[in-house]
This record gives sequence, structure tokens and C-alpha cells, in this order.
Amino acid sequence: MQTALITGANRGLGFEIARQLGLRGFQVFISGRSAEPLEQAASRLSQEGIQAIPLLMDVSRKDSIREAARQFSRRGLLLGVLINNAAILLKNDSRLSLDADEIMEQTITTNGYGPLWVSKAFLPYLDNPARIVMLSSGGGSMTDPVGGWSPAYCVSKTLLNSITRQLAYELRGRNIAVNAVCPGWVRTDMGGRGATRPVAKGAETPVWLASEAPQSLSGKFFRDKKAIEW
Ligand SMILES: NC(=O)c1ccc[n+]([C@@H]2O[C@H](COP(=O)([O-])OP(=O)(O)OC[C@H]3O[C@@H](n4cnc5c(N)ncnc54)[C@H](OP(=O)(O)O)[C@@H]3O)[C@@H](O)[C@H]2O)c1
Repeated sequence: MQTALITGANRGLGFEIARQLGLRGFQVFISGRSAEPLEQAASRLSQEGIQAIPLLMDVSRKDSIREAARQFSRRGLLLGVLINNAAILLKNDSRLSLDADEIMEQTITTNGYGPLWVSKAFLPYLDNPARIVMLSSGGGSMTDPVGGWSPAYCVSKTLLNSITRQLAYELRGRNIAVNAVCPGWVRTDMGGRGATRPVAKGAETPVWLASEAPQSLSGKFFRDKKAIEW
């Protein structure tokens, strides 16, 4: 049985990715920063016959990531898949030139450093072959025009895209594919009710990258199972 770890999996896309991987026979470690919603998510997945194990981890805190990796190591398992999904989009993220520094600091820490710190901490437990999937956004694109929304969030996803490329290069010798994905505009708490895509559709490409996509695909940015410009 293959094992996957998904960050921020208590709700939204992370939960749905865990569900879809679970239904494909993966054992899923679902991580999140609060115990209760995580336990509830694990129990909902178990009701669908999915082996879901909660793992407490705040991706913005190195001590929490270290402790989660220590807890995971006790199981003597290897991960075939790591999905860096957890992220924030702060309500008052509106103008880089005017907003309090804390908006950018919190956003970059969670959305940029978080996936890097988690990838580093779990690297010793990644199998050969393995896959790392980064949940990015078209907002991080350097080729699309600037949209004028949530600029700190968009900068954090540009950073994440760059981290994806660098890690893909560094980890190619270990047979670890590292890719970024834009899920589209998805109806979750973050995407809002007006978003165009249901959560199942948003999870489709991340799940494909975690399972059926050729292992040789690495260092790329995907939307709807097709490589797109960075
Ligand atoms: N929805 C969209 O339209 C859209 C579009 C493009 C990209 N994305 C990306 O897709 C991913 C999932 O988005 P979503 O729409 O599912 O968002 P969401 O509904 O807001 O869910 C975010 C998840 O991340 C978790 N999280 C936030 N900060 C965390 C931290 N410090 N440590 C651990 N977990 C943390 C949340 O946990 P709590 O419950 O504890 O807050 C929650 O489980 C994100 O990377 C997002 O940027 C989404």
C-alpha cells in the first residue's frame, strides 16, 4: 500500500485530495494545525473505508514540523507522496505598498517557507520513487498579467513556484518528482461560493500528479493535467 501525506487536509482541497487518494487505495496521513477538526476529518474518511491517520502539524512553525516528522518516523513507513497543500489568503491582503509587514510575513511563512520546511523535514522518509506536489496558484504566475488581488498571496505562490523548480533540480538524483499545480478557482472557504469549480475538479490534477502522471515529469507547473508557463 502506498502512503501519502497531505498538509492542511482537515477541509477544502486538502481533504478532497486525501479522499481521492484514499479511494485509490493510498493510506493517507492527513495533517493540520488543530486536533479536533483533524480527528473529525479522519473519522469522515474512515467512514468511506479510507485508512486516514491524523498528524498534528502547523506548517508555519518549524518546531511543529519537526515534531510531526518525529511522530511519523516512529511508524517505520516511507512516503510515496507528499502534498504541500496548506496555505492562507488573508482578508486584509490588499496592497503591498501599504499593508502592515505582518501580512506579507505570515503569508510568505505559511505558503512559501512552510512547503520548503515540510519537504526538508520529510525528505528522509520519502521513498524511491516519490512525488512532491505543491498547491500553487495562477496568481503566482510571472507570465500572466498582475490581477490586482491579494498581492502577498500571489508573491508567496511565485516563491513556491521557484522553490518547486529548485527542489525538482536538486532531487532528480533521488527519483523524487517535484511539481506545482494551479487547481483553478475552486469552491472552498478560500475560493468562496462564487468560484467556478467544484472541489472534486480542483483536486483532479493534484491527484493525477500524485499517482498516474509519468514519474519523469518534474520541475513543471500544471493546470488541468497540462504543463503551463511559469
Ligand atoms: N480555492 C481556490 O480557488 C484555490 C485556487 C488556487 C490555489 N489554491 C490553493 O489550494 C490549496 C488549498 O486551498 P483551499 O481552497 O482548500 O483553502 P482552504 O479552504 O482555506 O483550506 C486551507 C487549509 O490549509 C490549512 N492551513 C492553513 N494554515 C495552516 C498552517 N499554518 N498549518 C497547517 N495547516 C494550515 C487550513 O487549516 P485550518 O482549518 O486550521 O485553517 C485548511 O485545512 C492552497 O494552497 C491554496 O492556495 C486554492
